[in-house]
Amino acid sequence: MYQTTAALRSAFLEFFRRNSHQVVDSSSLVPGNDPTLLFTNAGMNQFKDVFLGEDKRDYSRATTAQRCVRAGGKHNDLDNVGYTARHHTFFEMLGNFSFGDYFKHDAIRFAWTFLTEELKLPKERLCVTIYETDDEAFEIWNKEIGVAAENIIRIGDNKGAAFASDNFWQMGDTGPCGPCTEIFYDHGEHIWGGRPGTPEEDGDRFIEIWNIVFMQYNRQADGTMEPLPKPSVDTGMGIERIAAIMQGVHSNYEIDIFQSLIKKTAEILGVTDLENKSLRVIADHIRSCAFLVADGVMPSNEGRGYVLRRIIRRAVRHGNKLGATESFFYKLVPTLIEVMGDAAKELVATQAIVEKALKAEEEQFARTLERGLGILDNALSQLEGKVLDGETAFKLYDTYGFPVDLTADVCRERDITVDEAGFEAAMAEQRSRAQAAGQFDTDYNDSLKIDAETEFCGYNNLNGEAKVVALYAD
Ligand code: SER
Repeated sequence: MYQTTAALRSAFLEFFRRNSHQVVDSSSLVPGNDPTLLFTNAGMNQFKDVFLGEDKRDYSRATTAQRCVRAGGKHNDLDNVGYTARHHTFFEMLGNFSFGDYFKHDAIRFAWTFLTEELKLPKERLCVTIYETDDEAFEIWNKEIGVAAENIIRIGDNKGAAFASDNFWQMGDTGPCGPCTEIFYDHGEHIWGGRPGTPEEDGDRFIEIWNIVFMQYNRQADGTMEPLPKPSVDTGMGIERIAAIMQGVHSNYEIDIFQSLIKKTAEILGVTDLENKSLRVIADHIRSCAFLVADGVMPSNEGRGYVLRRIIRRAVRHGNKLGATESFFYKLVPTLIEVMGDAAKELVATQAIVEKALKAEEEQFARTLERGLGILDNALSQLEGKVLDGETAFKLYDTYGFPVDLTADVCRERDITVDEAGFEAAMAEQRSRAQAAGQFDTDYNDSLKIDAETEFCGYNNLNGEAKVVALYAD
């Protein structure tokens, strides 16, 4: 059962619909209501104001399959993509939400029922974490649900601890937050890794599948926490992780969606080794890039557009590594539409624009890619030590259009790091030289300016004319 990710998505939404939740469409990757956020990075984003009591809906329970990008800002997974089994620039988060309706009891019971009765996951493979002082959550898991005490692990903020777990979730430096309880799946002792809360937790054996946040506070800029008008619930389960479990595989890249994209990329580029890491990077990146363009982001030199440019160029570099001789990235869009099912509605509507934008960016970068790679290769072969100087990284950025993380990605393959402080210094120097000369035409800003970006209201025609119909948001 649920052998495809699309079937799993439908089952989740249907389960919560049966339990009186309103099925709400995924919101855009460009957050409409929040200048503090670069991209939509969690299911709760579109409901932020509802949690805060500043917006009202005609439902108090909701469920979504939310497209998310984590490639900048507080939750940023870009650098890990391709190096781990489950970091992605784009993923879908399945979630259920209570806006002052149910709280801990029902939130925990819904999650457990869905996993163990609907999906029929073996209970002995599951363990949970709770916030260290949350005795109420402990009692519910232990007495009501029947999870043995030794499988309920208390975890705090863990500042300074040797492991990264954190059972207090917050959207950003400000905004809704609260203690959480997380459900983990044990992929088996043949895989290295320890239970959450141990130094070995970063291994691949125990994988967090569902985060249930008990939203209770609104964190202020000065760090104080004001209680929310009503205790609420925000949950998130990465669909790729649960699909991996349901499809009997360990790495997310083995699920149906990624396998289709990997096979298509291999077919286009004539690659036979389907395990090649670059295929995984490309399969990941086409999802974020295609959906970002579908949601109105265009490659550019700043803000969201620059993040998109960085991801496209990283994908193109990996294609080049696999021997691409012509534009290939945009050719993955039809396959993406096929495998994403109902989640691809926006992509279907904008397919021509998305393909055209990806192709144009690839062609533009391809003109300087080979030369830049030659210069980088030369610098690396002459390098003494393990750190590439910031000047070279800046030259690659400035002259050849290499985002610094692309240079870092090439270096990492040879166990070399980039002197990012030196890169920033070279950039600052260039900027002040340009200013002194009265030139303001080059934007050397690779930081994430988002406050003056265009608000996207739709494309004015769907024939590949990427003209945004709209409007500045202040
Ligand atoms: N907001 C929480 C998270 O992103 C639960 O959805 O993990």
